[in-house]
Order: sequence, then structure tokens, then C-alpha cells
Amino acid sequence: MIHIMGDLRDTTAEIQRREQELRDKQEQLVQAGKLATLGELTTGVAHELNNPLNNIGLFVGNAVDLVDLGVADRERIVRELKNAMQQVRKATEIISHLRTFGRVASVSREPVSIDQVIERALSLMQEQLRGRDIEIDLDLSPAAPVVVGNAIQLEQVFINLLTNARDAMADSPRKMVRISTRVVHDVVDLVFSDTGSGIPEGLEQRIFDPFFTTKEVGQGTGLGLSITYGIIKDHGGAIAVANRPQGGAVFQIRLPRAPADTPAPAAV
Ligand SMILES: Nc1ncnc2c1ncn2[C@@H]1O[C@H](COP(=O)(O)OP(=O)(O)O)[C@@H](O)[C@H]1O
Ligand SMILES: [Mg+2]
Repeated sequence: MIHIMGDLRDTTAEIQRREQELRDKQEQLVQAGKLATLGELTTGVAHELNNPLNNIGLFVGNAVDLVDLGVADRERIVRELKNAMQQVRKATEIISHLRTFGRVASVSREPVSIDQVIERALSLMQEQLRGRDIEIDLDLSPAAPVVVGNAIQLEQVFINLLTNARDAMADSPRKMVRISTRVVHDVVDLVFSDTGSGIPEGLEQRIFDPFFTTKEVGQGTGLGLSITYGIIKDHGGAIAVANRPQGGAVFQIRLPRAPADTPAPAAV
């Protein structure tokens, strides 16, 4: 009897040791995964920043040459410098996008009115949309959905989607973005559809990768959708994309609705 108890103790200790080993290995894997992501991100950032930095060098170099040669064409010099400024803005944008990306997990959460966030995103984009004859068709749920989350981040999501729709519709004869919200039990469904070029076949998953862009050098950072994906996931939601049969992309977002006893959202 004593002998069997001893065996059992040994076995239990052995199992515990193996479990610990497994936990350690898993922990190492998680760390390795994080490092891999960080490595990928760093390589991407280095690559992305390299391009505007090169351009800044070229434009400023041109300006220096013009001044050096005593070329009196002020306009030409200013043009070179303005081009350089634009590249500086692009580099800054890449950095600020990444900052937001890193912050995703540690922002405040409160009740947020989806209608208000959509309105804010639209008012921020107003000039850009009107200047390009882009129509907005709003079909908002009368239930005035509320989610628990971060208004600034959600606004960023909608701005990203609107910016992408704007770009995708550059050559469309009819430019229209339709935004609709629906409340189904405890979830809020949001749909952004546009009359643009649609997502090229086979790219439906890749468009969410960091730095994936089909836009020309200097046009896109490829970060919009990857940040959007991160924010939606962080809100316990999901995002998917499809093309409309008539052409144009449809982004579908599903977010958990705030529980019934949630206080009313503060006005933004
Ligand atoms: N509404 C859309 N219609 C067509 N293609 C889109 C749309 N939104 C995103 N895409 C595709 O997804 C890519 C990645 O988008 P995003 O991550 O926002 O980066 P960026 O806009 O800087 O290219 C775009 O380059 C484009 O190819
Ligand atoms: Mg974008």
C-alpha cells in the first residue's frame, strides 16, 4: 500500500513537472511570436520610412543646388521645398499610425453612441467627400446603438473606411458610400459599401496585413485596415469584406452591443 502511494506521488510530481515544462514552452512560443511580429513590423517601418526620407533628401538637394547655382527662380525652389514638406508629413503619418497601433490595448472605454461617431467621422471628412462629389447615404438604425469602447478609435475606423472608399472611387462615374447600422439582439452590425473598384480577387485577406497596399508609392501606407482590424478585435468585434455583385467593396463590422444597464453615452 505504502509502495503504491509512493508511486502515485512520483507520478503526480512527474505530471506537474511536465505541465510546468509545457507552460514554459508555451510562454517561450508567445514571446517568440511577439518578437517575430515586432521584427516584421520594424522591417516594414524601416522600409516604409526609407522611401519618404530618400525623397526628402532629393527634394532638399535640388533646392540646395538651385540656390548654389544662383538660380533666381524662387517658385522652383519653393516647389522643391514643398515637395519635401509633403514627404515629411508622410513620414510623420507612418509614425503616428504606429503609435496608435501600439496603444490599442490601453485606452479608456466608455459607452459610445455609434451614430455620434459616424457623424463625427463624416464631419471630419466633409471637405474631402464634397470636393470629390462623393454622396453619402446613411441608413441608421432607429435603435441608436451603443457599444462599450473608445470613441476616438472607432472614429479612426470609420475614417479609414471612408478614406479607402474615397480612393477606390476615384475613377467611378457614380461615387456613393452607403453606411447602414442594424441592431440584432446583442450585436450591432455596421455596413460600409461603396461604388468603387472593389477588392481585387484573392486579396480579401491580405488587405488587412500591415503595410499591404495596392496604392502607388507615396499614396498609401497600408496601415489603415490593419489598424482597423486591431481596433475592432479589441472591441470584441469582427470585420469582413466582400464585393458587391455590381462592383464596389462592402465592409461589414459586427460589435457587441452595450449591456442594457449601461449608462447613456456622454455627448462628444
Ligand atoms: N473600399 C475599398 N475598395 C477597394 N479596395 C480597397 C478598399 N479598401 C481597401 N482596399 C484595398 O486594401 C488596401 C489596404 O488598405 P489600407 O490598409 O487602408 O492601406 P492604404 O489605404 O494605405 O493602401 C488598399 O491599398 C486597397 O487595395
Ligand atoms: Mg487606407
